Amino acid sequence: MTDLLEALRKHYPRPEEAQALLNRLTDDPATPRVLYAPRRTGKTDFVKEDLMPAARKAFFPIYADLWFARSEPVQALLYALEKALDGLTRPRSRSGKIARTPVKGLSVLGSGITLGDEPADAELPSAPGLRIAELLERLHARAEKPLLLIIDEFQTLHDATAGLDTAAALRACLQAMRGRLFCVMTGSSRDKMSLMFDSIKASMHGFAKIEAFPMLGGGYVHALADAYSQLAGVRLDEEVLLDAFRELDSRPKDLQELIRRLAAARSTDIAGALGGLREELDQSEDLQVLWVAMKEIDRAVLKFVAHHPGAGLTSRQALRYYAHELGVDALSASSVANAVDRLRQDAWLMEVSNNRYRFETERQRRFVAARLE
Ligand SMILES: Nc1ncnc2c1ncn2[C@@H]1O[C@H](COP(=O)(O)OP(=O)(O)O)[C@@H](O)[C@H]1O
Ligand SMILES: [Mg+2]
Repeated sequence: MTDLLEALRKHYPRPEEAQALLNRLTDDPATPRVLYAPRRTGKTDFVKEDLMPAARKAFFPIYADLWFARSEPVQALLYALEKALDGLTRPRSRSGKIARTPVKGLSVLGSGITLGDEPADAELPSAPGLRIAELLERLHARAEKPLLLIIDEFQTLHDATAGLDTAAALRACLQAMRGRLFCVMTGSSRDKMSLMFDSIKASMHGFAKIEAFPMLGGGYVHALADAYSQLAGVRLDEEVLLDAFRELDSRPKDLQELIRRLAAARSTDIAGALGGLREELDQSEDLQVLWVAMKEIDRAVLKFVAHHPGAGLTSRQALRYYAHELGVDALSASSVANAVDRLRQDAWLMEVSNNRYRFETERQRRFVAARLE
């Protein structure tokens, strides 16, 4: 069982996807890419375990996790850049020191070189935007390679103090350092990112390209089924397993748990195990807490979406539904629009086409559907 657990937890590598992304970046150097997918679908693992190693040949990759200091993402970004610079500056060995330190005096007849003082950089500017620009320039000078800046959970900047200014500063850096600075961001709320780009349109227009993160799929399921059959001696139906993975919102951890349960029960009944797991996941998630805390009108909008998937949210029918739910005569379209904005920002809803929405995750849909009379 421990062998199985270890095999299940093993990182499933995706070097081709990483290389394809790097190729897209170099083909279009001025456009950073934003990889979007809901939470816990493997974005962080992908950028750290697949993208960074693939990038090292041609780039100097820097990873910044904005959730590292969630309420102060600008500081988190600065911290990552300063740490990366520190790593490049600190001589690792004496030869490193020699290479990086300007030579002060050189005796002609081979008594050796005299090392000068450590290079003292001018102090960094304190305004975040300028500081980021200066750090990136210094990093590039030291790394002697194009930089690949990877910003995890980029949408966090949306609500942060100076977040939008920082995003605008980044954009300016990308233009000024074209060909020397490349950028990949991840985001776990597609709509929050769109809203972010909308709200700073003037300075960010055409700034970044939002791409769907390549979700794990058949290959990953196949690898897990293989590991299972080697260790448990039975083969799981991969098609059914892939469907189950989709039902679990393509979250690797949940699929691992499903297989662990099958192993523990010595069973191949995927559907049976899935039912039980889903129920537990729905309860364990904080959806109930969020649900209770949200405004009544937000709940009404979510219920309407669960009732009428894909229907417009400001139609007469929809407005009547909300009014009935809230026990009022009428509601203004603007209060509905505000509710929809909140729900998009909080990653409950995502827009599928003009004013048509769906739940961000299957789990949220099930949760709300279970609350319809
Ligand atoms: N390629 C992969 N192979 C195996 N497990 C993975 C893979 N990608 C993600 N996971 C597992 O799924 C969990 C969530 O992944 P993570 O990268 O943190 O998601 P996200 O950044 O999208 O929220 C992690 O605990 C990780 O171990
Ligand atoms: Mg992550």
